[in-house]
Amino acid sequence: MCGIVGYIGASQAAPILLDGLGKLEYRGYDSAGIAVYDGKKIQVKKAIGRLKVLSELTHDGATMPGTLGVGHTRWATHGAPSDLNAHPHYNKEETIAVVHNGIIENYLKLRKKLTEKGYEFRSETDTEVVAHLLDYYYKGDPLEAITKVMHRVEGSYALGILFREHPDRLYAARKDSPLIVGQGKDGNLIASDVPAVLKYTREVYFIRNEETAVLTTDGIAFYNMDGEEIVKNSTTIEWDLNAAEKGGYEHFMLKEMYEQPKTVQDTLKPRVKENTIEIEELSMTEEEIRSISRIHIVACGSAYHTGITAKYVFEGLARIPVEVDLASEFRYRNPILEEDALVLIVSQSGETADSLAALREAKGRGVKTLGIVNVVGSSIAREADKVMYTWAGPEIAVATTKAYSAQLIAQYLLALKFAQVRGRLTAEETAAMLGDLKKLPGQIEMLLANKERIQKFANRYIAAKDVFFIGRGIDYAISLEGSLKLKEISYIHSEAYAAGELKHGTISLIEEGTLVAAVVTQKDLYKKSMSNIVEVRTRGAFVLAVTNVDNTEMEKAADYVIYIPQTNPYFTNSLAIIPLQLFSYYVSVGKGCDVDKPRNLAKSVTVE
Ligand code: G6P
Repeated sequence: MCGIVGYIGASQAAPILLDGLGKLEYRGYDSAGIAVYDGKKIQVKKAIGRLKVLSELTHDGATMPGTLGVGHTRWATHGAPSDLNAHPHYNKEETIAVVHNGIIENYLKLRKKLTEKGYEFRSETDTEVVAHLLDYYYKGDPLEAITKVMHRVEGSYALGILFREHPDRLYAARKDSPLIVGQGKDGNLIASDVPAVLKYTREVYFIRNEETAVLTTDGIAFYNMDGEEIVKNSTTIEWDLNAAEKGGYEHFMLKEMYEQPKTVQDTLKPRVKENTIEIEELSMTEEEIRSISRIHIVACGSAYHTGITAKYVFEGLARIPVEVDLASEFRYRNPILEEDALVLIVSQSGETADSLAALREAKGRGVKTLGIVNVVGSSIAREADKVMYTWAGPEIAVATTKAYSAQLIAQYLLALKFAQVRGRLTAEETAAMLGDLKKLPGQIEMLLANKERIQKFANRYIAAKDVFFIGRGIDYAISLEGSLKLKEISYIHSEAYAAGELKHGTISLIEEGTLVAAVVTQKDLYKKSMSNIVEVRTRGAFVLAVTNVDNTEMEKAADYVIYIPQTNPYFTNSLAIIPLQLFSYYVSVGKGCDVDKPRNLAKSVTVE
């Protein structure tokens, strides 16, 4: 994710651009930049760090004259955060400036072609190919050049573009990344999201996929990919600014839960070509993959929980032994690391102190390390031998949801890749499993659509004192995360137990009416888990079950059943966690807790 803005009108552009970027910082905040055109020169200023660095650099925009401009706040994907990689990007002569949100998937191919034609690249970004490609196609008609570029690039984009030869025009284009146009009183604007324009207007147009827009001070025109003009109606935005920043959702956590289909899709798509898995960034030879003797997954919090699921997946599919460690334990336990071991460090922020220390410990012992990280250019991303990014975008709510989902996907893909290379899966089996993975985004959407039912159920438990989560195998891993979600945002004590272990302790805590959430998605363990449900129910527990759609027997065993759609048993975590996230969320809302910023917790824990 990144945020883009653009303005053309009667006022000075730079302060308006900076103000708009401020409203979009939740979309990315590792660097920012603006390009402003005063009719003579397109002036570009960029700065690594939060937006305030750029604001200081330009004296809140005062030092940049001109009434036409574009701006960008970045969440790095291709190329670490730096002044050079910050947007806007331009062509060699600095006559075309571009800001971009999205990912150009075929940028390497395009970069190679353009380099062969003599274009020189200054940054490591995918965006820069757009600037040079526009230069290549531009013969005096910007719209024609933009349309040609749209035909050539693959992936997603929201673009804001300036052309020096057209001082009275602001250009925009979109595919699969959000982009709106705001119709203001003294000028018009483009933005990734509504909050950036609300100060100036409530009249907005939504640009659809493969459409372009041309803005002048007092006019807005839209075109399709054939260059034909399209007529659009504007929408009046009724939300207040606070709601708008959250895309109309009440909390960032809810918004981020709703982003999960996209997050899963984004993490999956670039690595699945037809029916094969290509994890370019892994750059391990088949021989190296075959020689892995053991995998150590090391992480904290929810990332650690994804590792527990991944252990089942790696061991089950690839038959590679896996150890999962809490980073804070791993670093001090003097772990035995074989020469051919692979250490996976899983971290959303890439800055968690214990995870970073664990990484250094492994590297110090000469073992291969791979980071599964969300924040590009973060410490773990920089220091790990290899890094596989989860494309979840910035996560604002302290309780992770979408980054967790993306971490699962990254590890499923690795497990499938390893299993295939090691001859544990045939091409047909891999294709079938990839088919299941591709269905996950749609299935997650379905589960999210069921939120009212879960909300009603959650409202009954806002006064609960203790809640228990039980499951076996992968269902135990899901229970751990379900339990953590609940306690961290609702402050209700909750525990996750391996269902078979219940009778060795926790069962003594079950009283009349105690809520037990049973996760039962592993077919071969249905019977065993059902007996554990009976054990707690006979002691008075109220059982909420999360199970597969075909397990209708559960209606008799549990008090309340939530079904998840059919998928491969290795992937059920990606689905079963959704109702549990929603449950925690609604309990927290019902109790009036600060959902996005629970007490005592921090998003990124950079102390030991
Ligand atoms: C904190 C967060 C958790 C997160 C954990 C690990 O405790 O509140 O949501 O799972 O840190 O963070 P990381 O950034 O390394 O994934």
